[in-house]
Amino acid sequence: MRKLIVYILFVSVIMSQACKKKEEETQQPAADTVAVAKASVTKAPFGKLPDGQEVSVYTLKNKNGVELQVINYGAIVTSLKTPDKNGVLEDIVLGFDSLQGYLTPAPYFGAIVGRYGNRIGKGKFKLDGKEYTLAQNNNGQHLHGGLKGFDKVFWNIEEVPASEGVALKLTYQSKDMEEGYPGNLSVEAIYTLTDNNEWKIDYKATTDKKTIVNVTQHSYFNLTGNVKRDILDHQLVLQSDKLVPVDKVLIPTGELKDVTNTPFDFRNAAAIGARINDKDQQIQLGGGYDHCWVLSSKDSVKLAASVYEPVSGRYMEVYTTEPGIQFYSGNFLDGSLTGKGGVVYKHRYGLCLETEHFPDSPNKPEFPSVVLNPGETYSTQTTYKFTTK
Ligand code: BGC
Repeated sequence: MRKLIVYILFVSVIMSQACKKKEEETQQPAADTVAVAKASVTKAPFGKLPDGQEVSVYTLKNKNGVELQVINYGAIVTSLKTPDKNGVLEDIVLGFDSLQGYLTPAPYFGAIVGRYGNRIGKGKFKLDGKEYTLAQNNNGQHLHGGLKGFDKVFWNIEEVPASEGVALKLTYQSKDMEEGYPGNLSVEAIYTLTDNNEWKIDYKATTDKKTIVNVTQHSYFNLTGNVKRDILDHQLVLQSDKLVPVDKVLIPTGELKDVTNTPFDFRNAAAIGARINDKDQQIQLGGGYDHCWVLSSKDSVKLAASVYEPVSGRYMEVYTTEPGIQFYSGNFLDGSLTGKGGVVYKHRYGLCLETEHFPDSPNKPEFPSVVLNPGETYSTQTTYKFTTK
């Protein structure tokens, strides 16, 4: 009898402890909503390139729990988690779960594109009278640096001190005549995640021969969080009154066109989907929005664009020193790619806001120059800022 009482007591103590533990576990807030007190940088393996090179994924976390992940391949931002209006952290960029996804043809998800972001007509340009020929990798035109642009190369990554958060320095040495561009070019991009929920990018480049440079970030954003639907309900503002119109192969005509009374007027917030199927000739040529807008002043940092997603409340602002911004509404996404978490990326499931010099500038002397000379430093800055409304 005594033995039985001891046994019953023992079992009930064990059970009550187990229940307490379970209670504690269920009371834990979901990991993705916890605000971490201290910013951090961690590094983990992300797979191997076909040549055996090891790719790592670096995770930057700020003190609010906002998290940005980047890999050596293409300087690709593979994940960016920001809070919605209830503080729930979700991923707001398109991409893949593994390196393999990025190694099969993909439309520049999350990458830095260069040496020349966007198009150069027929892949030809002249410097000091000498003609250079680049790959015609897009409908007879040159796009995003060619067959093996900066999005498909290995970038060295190191942690660097940051005055306003955590930062990584990404560097790449592009060889003279790589993809047809003259000059050995040293490129650097510093990705900073500030405690103010900003992703700040500082680009720098130097060359040993006269060349052209126009690098930009090609992340596809979808502020619904974990890509729940297309981006047509996102409300966009573009701080611009002029468009860079294009011809049928998406090369600028050279004209700058007033946006007044056109579907390209985003000076007041408008849903991206509201006019995207308009009969306007430029909309038809782009298959939606795939154009560069002229930004007011050239060199200083200014607000260029903002996007608001009403259901999640996420609000993103884009600041830049660049003279233009390419707004691409994901018109070429067609459901043939399956991304993170098995989500199928259908038509217009992501949008890009690529801060840049205008497309085909090397062939348009009237556009701001993209020429870099030895002894000069190419230096631009872009910041994506995340809040909620
Ligand atoms: C271009 C689009 C192109 C896309 C590739 C954008 O920057 O403007 O025309 O299809 O990149 O993903």
